[in-house]
Amino acid sequence: MSTQSLYKVPGDIAANALINNEQYKKMYQESIVNPDGFWREQGKRIDWIKPYTKIKQTSFDDKDLSINWFYDGTLNASANCLDRHLADGSDKIAIIWEGDDARDQRTLTYGQLHDQVCRFANVLRSQGVCRGDVVTIYMPMVPETAVAMLACARIGAIHSVVFGGFSPDSIASRVNDGQSRVIITADEGVRGGRSIPLKHNVDLALEHPDVQCVEKVIVLKRTGSDIYWVEGRDIWWHSLMELASEHCPPEEMGAEDPLFLLYTSGSTGNPKGVLHTTGGYLVYAAMSHEYVFDYKPGEVYWCTADVGWITGHSYMVYGPFANGATVLMHEGVPNYPSPARLGEMIDRHKVNILYTAPTLVRALMAEGKEHFEEYDGSSLRIMGSVGEPINPEAWRWYHEVIGHEHCPIVDTWWQTETGGILITPLPGATDTKPGSATRPFFGVKPALVDNQGNILEGANEGNLVLLDSWPGQMRTIYGDHDRFVLTYFKTFRGMYFTGDGARRDEDGYYWITGRVDDVINVSGHRLGTAEVESALVAHEKVAEAAVVGYPHDIKGQGIYAYVTLIHDTEPSEELRQELRQWVRKEIGALATPDLIQWASGLPKTRSGKIMRRFLRKIAANEVTNLGDASTLADPAVIDTLIESRLNRS
Ligand code: WT7
Repeated sequence: MSTQSLYKVPGDIAANALINNEQYKKMYQESIVNPDGFWREQGKRIDWIKPYTKIKQTSFDDKDLSINWFYDGTLNASANCLDRHLADGSDKIAIIWEGDDARDQRTLTYGQLHDQVCRFANVLRSQGVCRGDVVTIYMPMVPETAVAMLACARIGAIHSVVFGGFSPDSIASRVNDGQSRVIITADEGVRGGRSIPLKHNVDLALEHPDVQCVEKVIVLKRTGSDIYWVEGRDIWWHSLMELASEHCPPEEMGAEDPLFLLYTSGSTGNPKGVLHTTGGYLVYAAMSHEYVFDYKPGEVYWCTADVGWITGHSYMVYGPFANGATVLMHEGVPNYPSPARLGEMIDRHKVNILYTAPTLVRALMAEGKEHFEEYDGSSLRIMGSVGEPINPEAWRWYHEVIGHEHCPIVDTWWQTETGGILITPLPGATDTKPGSATRPFFGVKPALVDNQGNILEGANEGNLVLLDSWPGQMRTIYGDHDRFVLTYFKTFRGMYFTGDGARRDEDGYYWITGRVDDVINVSGHRLGTAEVESALVAHEKVAEAAVVGYPHDIKGQGIYAYVTLIHDTEPSEELRQELRQWVRKEIGALATPDLIQWASGLPKTRSGKIMRRFLRKIAANEVTNLGDASTLADPAVIDTLIESRLNRS
């Protein structure tokens, strides 16, 4: 193994870890050579109502696509996350909650969480929610959000969590796509000292003429602020809970019955409703949470993601609760009111495992080490990173300042679609290299292919694909199975295409290089350039828009928009601000363009296709080696764009 910048597994970690390097190699081999045998055993970590006898029935052939796991078994996800832990003592802590204001502290035991989930499941039933119905959840980071999700799972309803930062329009399109009859929300959320008008956003979404499906809005009182109220439609969470019984037997679900929908951006069109099913997803989330974080009973685990993203689903709710873990949940952001907050929380709650994103590490790094002078950090054992490639500089800072050079870092690569972590170090098994997600997890068969789909061997760089199924994989795009097949299985026949590029080094380690499609990654959040473009052109003064990502110190990628205004409209700073606000209102704050360049024309081929690679380079301030512009209808456009480019850093 090349030793350049290699961080060895610490001896004490390796000695006590669930998986050491020998075990990793043996189990990985078994999982690939004999998947049925491997998963037959792993499936047993979950309680089944009717045990499975069938394990894996999968094909990535686009003509005959099928993905089925444990498919004759039945189970209930909420019972696996709650009921089965009550036997070892219902007063084990499930959730430690800290508010945006650190004086707000709550804990919920597994017994209390079970009680709340059962009651709320009965509430949902009383509001007419049935097995198979889609329920939209637009909530802040409070324990009740986990209660709402698990209550859906308990009665076999499909939850669709919409991140609290999304706009009314984004809520409306998701609610409509799932034909949700019930929305669960809160009066307001609180983040970084500011309140977020969640109920107001739902009200606006429901004013949309297209949204006719919603009958009930269940409202949690979080801040007690004044809100608009529609009699008959809106109901308080607490008044329903008072009347609800705490007895709610879990619904018996098939392994392949839907568990949840979660929308994510693609390179074209509207966000896709990624559908995950019950059995395989839960086995995969539980197993990967245990092995990747080397989770041991009694440890305090903190994932800083919002529950509105897949990380919040798999590694704040389903994985940890299936394992009976103690989860720290934070309402706000870990660098508010000061960058010291992260360290204070680790010390206050004796956090053993921390899972966060490179964008936070870079933001803290920019603030300086001095905020961690009083940080003790002795409880911390394992640290994770997710959402985007972590640059080696940020990796080292994280390792040194937060991990005091003794905590292994697991840089976990995965996607909303994959349900769980696919490429990652294991703390006790894998020597790490800053910036590399390292090796495949059990059952995962990654490969690199060239643009024609030929498999590349050895140390190489190409498109990252997966050659075989794993239990946590998404099963379809809700309501659009053809789009599912087209998006993931048609680019390279017989393979799942991730949309990412990657390099594999001489040690077989994977280095994710980023998206190779028109998806950008802003602070670890995925955004389709097409979505931002369609928001921009919906503005009356915009004739045309092209959006690309560009390197950004904190966010990883920033949003760079080229905008052509309609005839006779003068560009101005005011209009630029108006357009930024407009996109924010249309999609949500995370989609706000960082830079807007006025463009009298865009580089197009003679057939009218925008040549985005030129735009990407100009936005990245890489203007010396632009490549062949001879296929452009008007090559002079390029010079004009270069002259007035905005990112000159
Ligand atoms: C995309 C998926 C998985 C939860 C968070 C994001 C990028 C994710 C890493 C990583 C390099 C990463 C990829 C991927 N990504 N983790 N450790 N190293 N890139 O989920 O919104 O579905 O985005 O995030 O580009 O395709 P998502």
